[in-house]
Amino acid sequence: MHAPTTDWHVVDRYVTDALGLEDGELTDALHASAEAGLPAIDVSAPQGQMLALFARMIDARSILEIGTLGGYSTIHMARALPADGHLVTIELDQDHADIARANLNRAGYYDSVEILVGPAIDLLPGLEDDTRAPFDMVFIDADKASMPEYLRWAMRLTRSGSVIVCDNVVREGSLVDGDSDDPSVRGARGVHEFIAAEPRLAATTIQTVGSKGWDGFTLALVVDPA
Ligand code: SAH
Ligand code: DHB
Ligand code: MG
Repeated sequence: MHAPTTDWHVVDRYVTDALGLEDGELTDALHASAEAGLPAIDVSAPQGQMLALFARMIDARSILEIGTLGGYSTIHMARALPADGHLVTIELDQDHADIARANLNRAGYYDSVEILVGPAIDLLPGLEDDTRAPFDMVFIDADKASMPEYLRWAMRLTRSGSVIVCDNVVREGSLVDGDSDDPSVRGARGVHEFIAAEPRLAATTIQTVGSKGWDGFTLALVVDPA
């Protein structure tokens, strides 16, 4: 059945309400972020639940996030962890990190979630010797131009069986524009080129529509080379 009057937002709202994907802690975080003037570029509630389900499917105990913003996706993923689990999230902007810290504390994640503040490319090397590495899951969601570099680091910080998710790779279809000089599009294409040349990654890209428009994510599994 075709439903031409039904908007993508309306379906996300229905799914979110029907499945109870958003509660006070999550909406409080969104409201606090909006009040502080952060852009509304968090994952949607259905996407946040998807990240949490990926984490639960692999019994993730340690998760790395690159790009915290107000910590909305962070809360979704932190909820998927066991009591002794850890999440490290990296954020460039101190103001974003402060809002995220408050949101995470309000949701009860004082110790299990650590926010590292600074450029991800400078902070990732320091995680190689971290007790929380290798990470079972990595969510790449910061500056899009650097996605291939973050993926390269994710390979060093994970193990066979780890899951890596790259957000915002479809970009309203501009992913297919090989002539684009948009650094974000080049980053999204670079993710695909990196994966094509990396036998230790089995991956796909899924387009999405919803309250965040037309975009998509790359899902990759770290495997032993054949
Ligand atoms: N994961 C969040 C959204 C992240 S938005 C959610 O879904 O809820 C992207 C974030 O990446 C922004 O807060 C931005 O400040 C941060 N960022 C941008 N460039 C960065 C860099 N070089 N290093 C670390 N974080 C960066
Ligand atoms: C942007 C970043 C995101 O992580 C996202 O999901 C949507 C938009 C952005 O930088 O515009
Ligand atoms: Mg994103």
